[in-house]
This record gives sequence, structure tokens and C-alpha cells, in this order.
Amino acid sequence: MPRAEVTLDKIVSLSKRRGFVFQASEIYGGFESTWDYGPLGVELKRRIADAWWRDMVMAREDVVGLDSAILQAPKVWEVSGHATGFNDPLVDCKACKGRFRADKLAMSQCPRKPSKHPGEHSDCALTPPRQFNMMFKTQVGPVEDSAAITYLRPETAQGIFTNFLNVQQTMRMKLPFGVAQMGKSFRNEIVTGNFLFRTREFEQMEMEYFCRPEESAAKFEYWVAERLRWYRSIGLREENLRARPYEKKDLAHYAAACTDIEYRYPWGWDELEGVANRTTFDLTRHSEASGKKLQWMDPDTKEWITPHVVEPAAGLSRLVLVALLDAYDEDVADGEPRTLLRFHPRIAPITLGVFPLVKRDGMPEKAREIVRRYLDRFPVFYDESGAIGRRYRRQDEVGTPFCATVDGETMTGGTVTIRERDSMKQERVRIEAIGDWIDARTRA
Ligand code: GAP
Repeated sequence: MPRAEVTLDKIVSLSKRRGFVFQASEIYGGFESTWDYGPLGVELKRRIADAWWRDMVMAREDVVGLDSAILQAPKVWEVSGHATGFNDPLVDCKACKGRFRADKLAMSQCPRKPSKHPGEHSDCALTPPRQFNMMFKTQVGPVEDSAAITYLRPETAQGIFTNFLNVQQTMRMKLPFGVAQMGKSFRNEIVTGNFLFRTREFEQMEMEYFCRPEESAAKFEYWVAERLRWYRSIGLREENLRARPYEKKDLAHYAAACTDIEYRYPWGWDELEGVANRTTFDLTRHSEASGKKLQWMDPDTKEWITPHVVEPAAGLSRLVLVALLDAYDEDVADGEPRTLLRFHPRIAPITLGVFPLVKRDGMPEKAREIVRRYLDRFPVFYDESGAIGRRYRRQDEVGTPFCATVDGETMTGGTVTIRERDSMKQERVRIEAIGDWIDARTRA
């Protein structure tokens, strides 16, 4: 059966209906494309973040973590170039009062002509483009003067550069090594939209990999391949992922190379993660401005090296959207249409649903015992209401890969039936073996 058509409307509606994502400030009519993560959304986001942290930090000897502040000295943003250069070209339409990014006009819809194809602004009364800085300005402390102005960070990366020496020295790191961090970033985007794709408040997962200049080209290739491999490891479909190298003329001023890892969204191929070779740009700039020597001394040659930086920078909130899009499917189960999310067991918000077949004969108590036994190991959910088929269907719709049913045989023989979401096959498994049975399928 071919895969069902996935539209953003279906994903937005399922997200609200099943508690993944709600509109922020919904009871007041919402607020400027900001979103709140519901009980299942926050689990999905956490599990994706955990998988990233495990594979990028815990499983690697050459990478350590960091959690730097969102508010930094304004000097950081001056030196990084964000205060003056982090701009998008803004155009206003005098007729429709719409505001657009001049470089994304082809992808924006004119509100005056909503029936028209996106991008048809040819007869709009557009102003010439002016530069609009995307950083969120804020004031620190009670005194309102220019000295109290700083910005919410627009990327997590700068906190890593400013801590280069702290991390290198305290952890005695040797080149090549990486510093990873995840957290909120803020950009006053001119145009937001496509649900979680482009928002003003979002989460990033970034890693700065410091290496010798002569090895940076090879490390760059390595990280592009590694990041693609990682997306496949959390279950994203091969055909929806691709790497798109930038042409030289499109590179940011600090980058020697950049490749976007793109996903095939309902509106076409677009960015999911950027992998950049930022060369020595940031460390050199911060060294010059701070007077601190942000370098590493090779213990063998005693030579001081300013490392090159290869940066795989992903969006966590954007990846939540991608996970939902990629997992969405519709098929027919037992003669009835079903909607399901085919999440990989590593990221599914619930790993195991546990159901008593009937609400008597000790089955609910036995099912609760199984829940208690496994809830430290993976997310487990107990459900006793409605027919078994309906309970399966509810778990399918939120992407639960496995459901265990406690029945008469459980009470006499100590086994449950585990039903697998995608194949709908059932297998009897001993209660004490459920954990390993699931682990084997999570690693596969
Ligand atoms: N430190 C490099 C950096 O920040 P970026 O390409 O601007 O690079 C990295 O951002 C990733 O962060 C993007 O690939 C995207 O996934 C995510 N991202 C950037 N802006 C975003 C926004 N407004 N909303 C959601 N995610 C965003």
C-alpha cells in the first residue's frame, strides 16, 4: 500500500488532537506562531534530544557537553558579527500591508491575492529592501539606558566559543575535540510559519568540532556523512533526506564550506541542519576582542594552533516537526482505516502500551505490575478503557511501537501478547523478557 499523503494540516490537527503541540496562549487567540509542547510532544522532543546527546556526547570520547547562558555580554554579539550582520532583507507591500523577506518572496503568499500562487508579487507595491536585524533586544536590570541592552542568543554556538579555554583546560581536551550544547535560541524572524519549521523561539542542538586546519576538510566530510547516518538511525526515511552542498558564492562570510542536510517537507526540500566549516573565524575574532589567547598548544611540537571549527547545527524543534511528518501514515487495519505514526522505538513518546484484556480476574492488577516493572526502563502507558482494537488504534495514532495485552494465559503462564504497531503481528513473550525483547527491536 503506498504511503498516505502527508500534509501540514493533518500534522497540525493530529498534534493538537493527541496532545503533541498546542498553540501558545490559545485561550487568548494564540500568539505570533509560538507553540507549546503537550504531554506527548514534550516526550517526543526529549527523546530526540536524548538520542542526540547520547550519540553526539556520551558515546564519544572526543566530545563533551556545555550549557551556556542565553544572556551573554553584548560584546559577544558585536564580536560574532550578529549585532551588525545578522540581518534579513525586509520589504513591505504598500497595497496589502504584508511584510516579506526579499530573498524568500518566491515562497511567500501575498495576502491580497490569496487565491494566487505563492510568489506572485509582481504587481505588489513593494518598498526597496531594508536590512532588519533579527536579534531580540532586551534590557538587563531596572535601569533603562543603552548600557543595559543585550540580546537573547540567536544561536547556541557563541557560548561554546567564549568557553573554549574553560572547556579545553578543565577537561584536558586535545585536538580534535568537540563541544556540544542544546537549548533555546531566539530570532525575530520577519516571516515565521509552516508550524514548527520557522518560529521566533526555537531549540537548537549544536556541536563545535575543533580540529587542526589541515584536517578540517576531512572532518567536514565526516560530519556531513555522520549526521545523515544519525537521522537514518532515528528512523527517518532515506528518500526524504539529502545533503545539499552550498555553492561558494552562497557561503556565509565566515564559512569555507557548508552543506545543508535537507528534508523533503510537504512544500519541498528545505533545511533541517547546516554543517559548516567556520574555519578560525570565531576563535580569532574573540581572541582579538578579549585579549585572551583562544588557541591550543600541541604538546609534541609546542606549536600554538588556532583550531578550525566544523559545526553540525540542527534544530530540535524543527526535528520534532520532521519526526511527525516522516512518521505519519494511514492504512487499513482489521477492515478499518487507521491513522498511525511510525516512530522509531528510540524516539516514540510511549514505547509500550499495557492493557488488561478485561477489567476483572486480576488482569488490571497484573497489567499495573508490568507497568511498574518497566517504567524506569522506557515510557509505559496503561489503558483499560474500551475494546482492545480501539486501544491499539489510540496507541497507533500516537506512535507507540508495542502494546502488551494481559489475558487469561498471562494469569496462568506468565506471558503476554505483544502486538507490533507496523506489522500488527503478535507474539507471546514472558513478562520478565519484555524489556530485552523491546531493547533488541530498539537497537535494530
Ligand atoms: N550556529 C549556526 C546556526 O545557528 P543556522 O543554520 O542559522 O546555523 C541551525 O541554524 C539550525 O537551527 C537550522 O538548520 C534549523 O534547523 C534551526 N533553526 C534556525 N532558525 C530557526 C527558526 N527560526 N525556527 C526553527 N528552527 C530554526
